[in-house]
Amino acid sequence: MAILVTGGAGYIGSHTVLALLERGDDVVVIDNLSNSSKTSLERVTELTGKVPTLYVADILDKQALKEIFSKHNISDVIHFAGLKSVGESVRKPLEYYENNVVGTLILLNEMLRAGVNSLIFSSSATVYGNPEKVPLSEECQVGGTTNPYGTSKLMVEQILRDFSHAQPEFRITCLRYFNPVGAHASGRIGEDPNGIPNNLVPYISQVAIGKLECLSVFGNDYPTPDGTGVRDYIHVLDLASGHLAALDHKAEGSPFKAINLGTGVGYSVLDLIKAFEKAAQTKINYQIVARRPGDVAECWSDSSLAKQELGWIATRSLDEMMRDTWNWQKNNPNGFGS
Ligand code: NAD
Ligand code: UFG
Repeated sequence: MAILVTGGAGYIGSHTVLALLERGDDVVVIDNLSNSSKTSLERVTELTGKVPTLYVADILDKQALKEIFSKHNISDVIHFAGLKSVGESVRKPLEYYENNVVGTLILLNEMLRAGVNSLIFSSSATVYGNPEKVPLSEECQVGGTTNPYGTSKLMVEQILRDFSHAQPEFRITCLRYFNPVGAHASGRIGEDPNGIPNNLVPYISQVAIGKLECLSVFGNDYPTPDGTGVRDYIHVLDLASGHLAALDHKAEGSPFKAINLGTGVGYSVLDLIKAFEKAAQTKINYQIVARRPGDVAECWSDSSLAKQELGWIATRSLDEMMRDTWNWQKNNPNGFGS
């Protein structure tokens, strides 16, 4: 039996493929390489001594999915493939709905046809919209998303919930990630954003390496301890182990689950800068600028359901997240292109 990982060449996908191979699972990847390169998986092989089967194909391509399901004995699907840039989704809503929503529908149909009934879906804390309270538990209201990316995640969750009622033999887990950061400790795989990064940690690390001049801190007048935005940063290897735990516990509980993957601890932008400065032994040049439209003051998880349902907790500290990010950045100043 093999695990099919869609989007497995990407940032979170490649770290999860590594964790699956390390524990002895067979892995098949489908990725159109629209936001990644084969190099990530070549490095996974270098680190594990094992080779995942890679199909360079699109999840919108029914034929490609049919072929994969007929050639391999797939037991479970971990579905990372999708587009993830909030700003781009506002400019290109149709692309986002097509890739993220239609892509998932096509995948589900092919799973149904092939009799594969276990799915883990990459959801996001973005489904909570503007948090009604923190920490955010799964009981909190979802909705009120402010961009097509967030709405696409919300839509897919709803589709999966409805689908699970119609197909009770399916086991579906939506994992709502908080803010994934960090890299494998070897410094061989990590996050390789296209162009100027939108997210805080890749931006800080490119300032540290000298590719970018100055970090803009988006607002210091939020109702938070130091006035800057607070988030729940989680090491990508903890996220990877969360997927393994979700596979192991799929048969327990209800056919549809939505579970937060976070640390349960919030850190501010200034906390992140300080932690990165310590890890990289360098000063991060930053300036305070206006708030970024759409940002919320605080977003961090109540992660008790993951512990209860999956026996999983995040174990890596903020210092480890920053150390591993820096190790990846300094050894690969141009990402996988270096
Ligand atoms: P990523 O862009 O590094 O990985 C996504 C992968 O999917 C890429 O390798 C890309 O080439 C591939 N892909 C995209 N569209 C495809 C398609 N139609 N067919 C086949 N392959 C396709 O992103 P990531 O950070 O690893 O995120 C993985 C998943 O987790 C995404 O669904 C994302 O929305 C979700 N997520 C990410 C974050 C985050 O901050 N990184 C937070 C919450 C949720
Ligand atoms: N920030 C800055 N300067 C920057 C970038 C970010 O000050 O250059 C601040 C933001 O204002 C925010 C914090 O750093 O307070 C984190 O911002 P990110 O862009 O790194 O992350 P977000 O919390 O905005 O969004 C992330 C993902 C989304 C996902 C969301 C919830 O990018 O895809 O987490 O999971 F939906």
